[in-house]
Parts: sequence; structure tokens; C-alpha cells
Amino acid sequence: MTESLHPPRERLPSSLFSPGRADELLRGPHRDLHQRPEKLVGALRIQPGDRVADIGAGVGYLTPLLSRAVGPTGRVVSEEIQREFLPELERFRSFGNVEVILGSPDDPRLPGPPMDCLVLLTVYHEVRNPIRFLRTLRRYSHSETRLAIVDFDPDIPSSTPAPIGHSVPERAVRSEAAAAGWRLDRREQASAGQYFLIFRPSTRLERALPQRPTNAHAVRTQRADR
Ligand SMILES: C[S@@+](CC[C@H](N)C(=O)[O-])C[C@H]1O[C@@H](n2cnc3c(N)ncnc32)[C@H](O)[C@@H]1O
Repeated sequence: MTESLHPPRERLPSSLFSPGRADELLRGPHRDLHQRPEKLVGALRIQPGDRVADIGAGVGYLTPLLSRAVGPTGRVVSEEIQREFLPELERFRSFGNVEVILGSPDDPRLPGPPMDCLVLLTVYHEVRNPIRFLRTLRRYSHSETRLAIVDFDPDIPSSTPAPIGHSVPERAVRSEAAAAGWRLDRREQASAGQYFLIFRPSTRLERALPQRPTNAHAVRTQRADR
């Protein structure tokens, strides 16, 4: 039987985050209070010289901290699929170790050698083909790559709830990651209402790692809820 590349029907992805709500929700001291970004980046155990991808970077909330963690010999790829965010991200190029990429919903199109760490901070709930996407991430990984997924869990009652509809249960992430060839390495302490999962490629090489597409499908079917 062919394994489905789609999540169960009851796990529909959220609409894309609206760039117009970035100031309200993605940055500022109110977010730092619950997200504690320094602690989050510390838990990634990034080494100087590492290659790190900030996938679905938005306005680049994490990008400067990742840039500092990898240092001048490292590289941060700050990736987005919504063009509206790119001018914000472009500002980080002046750091000298940040590259900005426009990806597509099923492929972040990360350049260069494999990444040491892939970070999805409150992004995964919006990914439209989660298993396919996570399989694609395997192509940008080596055997020790960490894949960090931090997201809101609708099953965790919290004083900092997710914006309505912008969450995904931890159990769904775990089972989709396993289906895509990632094993859970550890759980880190997360902010209120969120989980923080770190995966590594599973040693059993996946039966059906997808081939690199020959043409780029950048068709966006999700609409931002602006
Ligand atoms: C809630 S925002 C979070 C932005 C940023 N990671 C942060 O925490 O500030 C979610 C972002 O994920 C992006 N996104 C959604 N689906 C994506 C995909 N398949 N690949 C890359 N980014 C995606 C959206 O464009 C949006 O900017």
C-alpha cells in the first residue's frame, strides 16, 4: 500500500500568517516575555561555524540570534515563502553571515551543503503538505542534523493561547515526522502553550525519499488571512 504524503483530513493546515499582523504578534517585548528567544536558541546547541536555516522566518524574529550563535564562520539561511517578508529579512544580510531565500510551500530551496540545524518556530501548523515537506527537509540534512519544531498545542491550556486556528497537536507532529524519516531526539522546555521538539534523521533511510523536482512548483494555494 502506498503511504500517504498528506496528513489526516482532520489535520488541515492553518491559513498563512498575515504579514500585516507582524508588529502585533511576531515581535516586541510582549513576545519576548513568553517566547524567551535566547533560551530557545541556547537549547539548539548551535556551534560556531554551523549552518542553520530559519524556515518560515517571518520578520526574522530569530535570525539575529541565530546569526550570533553561528558566528562569522557560520551561515544562517533565513527563508520565507511570502514575498512581503523579504525586505525585512534582507536587512540581516548586513550581518555578513545571513542569506535570504524565497522558498516554496513544499520546498524551502536551501542553498549549499547540508544544514546542521533546521528551525521552524511557529511555522509547522501552516505547512500545507507536512509529511512531504519534512521529507524534503531530509534532502537538506546530514546524519547529525537537528530539526527543531516549536509550535502551539491546542491541547495545552495556556494563558498565552495561539491565535485562533494557529496550532497543531504535538502528537500530529510526532507521527508526521516519524513518517517522514525523523526520530525524536529530545524535548526541550517550551513556552506556555507550546512544545519544543528536536528531531534527527532516523537511521533507517526512508524508503521513498523524493527526488529533487526538475521544475519548481511555487504555486501557492493557501491565502493569508489578511
Ligand atoms: C506565525 S509566522 C512565524 C514567523 C517566525 N518563524 C516567527 O516565529 O516569528 C509563520 C510563518 O511561516 C511561514 N510559512 C508557512 N508555510 C511555510 C512553508 N511551507 N515553508 C516556509 N514558511 C512557511 C509563513 O509565511 C509565516 O511567515
